[in-house]
Amino acid sequence: MNDVSPLATRIGLIRVESFRNLQSVELHLADGFNFFSGGNGAGKTSVLEAVHVLGHGRSFRTAQAGDLVRVGRERFSIFAECRLGLAAAGHDTRLGLGWSRDGWTLRRNNEAVPILSDFVRNLPVVTLDPGSHELISGPSELRRRFLDWLLFHVEPDFLSVWRRYARALRQRNAALRSPFGVSDRELSVWEKELVEAGTRVHDHRERLVSELRTEFLPLLASIAPGLPVEGIRLRSGWSSDTGLADALREGRSSDRERGFTQRGPHRGDWRLQLGNGLDHDQLSRGQGKLAALTSLLAQAALLRKHRGDWPVLSCDDLAAELDDEHQARLLEWLSRTGAQVLITGTSTLTLPTTAPPARMFHVEQGRIAQLL
Ligand SMILES: Nc1ncnc2c1ncn2[C@@H]1O[C@H](COP(=O)(O)OP(=O)(O)O)[C@@H](O)[C@H]1O
Ligand SMILES: [Mg+2]
Repeated sequence: MNDVSPLATRIGLIRVESFRNLQSVELHLADGFNFFSGGNGAGKTSVLEAVHVLGHGRSFRTAQAGDLVRVGRERFSIFAECRLGLAAAGHDTRLGLGWSRDGWTLRRNNEAVPILSDFVRNLPVVTLDPGSHELISGPSELRRRFLDWLLFHVEPDFLSVWRRYARALRQRNAALRSPFGVSDRELSVWEKELVEAGTRVHDHRERLVSELRTEFLPLLASIAPGLPVEGIRLRSGWSSDTGLADALREGRSSDRERGFTQRGPHRGDWRLQLGNGLDHDQLSRGQGKLAALTSLLAQAALLRKHRGDWPVLSCDDLAAELDDEHQARLLEWLSRTGAQVLITGTSTLTLPTTAPPARMFHVEQGRIAQLL
């Protein structure tokens, strides 16, 4: 049996109030595997969603925090006692997050944290859910968010560079829509800042994608060896023949017509390079899920590499997502990491013999009982 790694972010106690159908739930999670079983609509996904919201400040199912508040209530709250990897080795950190129409309430060790981005730095969580295949075939926004979330955690100045870029982009877009028109000279003022910040955003992404590639390919070999993926390619968001400054200059008249900036890292993307001349749309749904799974595990492995500790890993509805063989490969891999793992399913699961001790919970009508 593996020892549970001390280099993993872990949640010990978690308390959830008025979140989805969970009325008032208190759980003591195991450091290794935690398995939640129960029928459809019991509240299993809601448990993982609560953990995800504590780590990201947003759900993987909805962009509206209001959807998460239990019907008939005004506010949800999530509280957890966590061991946050290396940085806080040996110390428990208490994280509390609440949401109502008035906004977020965020507390770390009983002290108010005014800014959500400061709060969500604490608890990295990577979630595989039934919507994850969208990462491969869905809109580019999801793939940008995937990269930028990782950069947010591993690159200290990324957030400020990204904010500079976003501000200059808003200003250039506002200028493009000005009813009085905008001269090239005026546009060039915003473009200078866009180019400076945008080039740095792109450079960060480029470095990260090259590291992601290094994690991705061996993972693919151990989890989904049949998948025809040969690499990962970053798209900058503008023509590769020119620098960003030229691309913006060349795009001015068309941008004026459309009223927004059509080129730049806000339009960047990354795609898997598929073998056999395949296109992403030609992957089967199951293959798409495996590709998304492997990408998310590579994301987790990169976090581990940079921060020193594994994020909390959640897999929603594992049995519905993967066939038996891939499930076994995934569980084997997960058990070797020593990460804290949360898994849901409608039936029980066979864990590999190498897995750390598991804790089982049964979920029914928003109530949760610990079985073992
Ligand atoms: N805001 C809400 N308030 C109360 N119940 C909700 C809310 N949002 C969703 N639900 C209900 O919570 C139940 C549990 O959902 P979910 O966690 O997705 O179940 P499971 O994953 O176990 O199938 C569902 O019946 C769903 O309709
Ligand atoms: Mg579910």
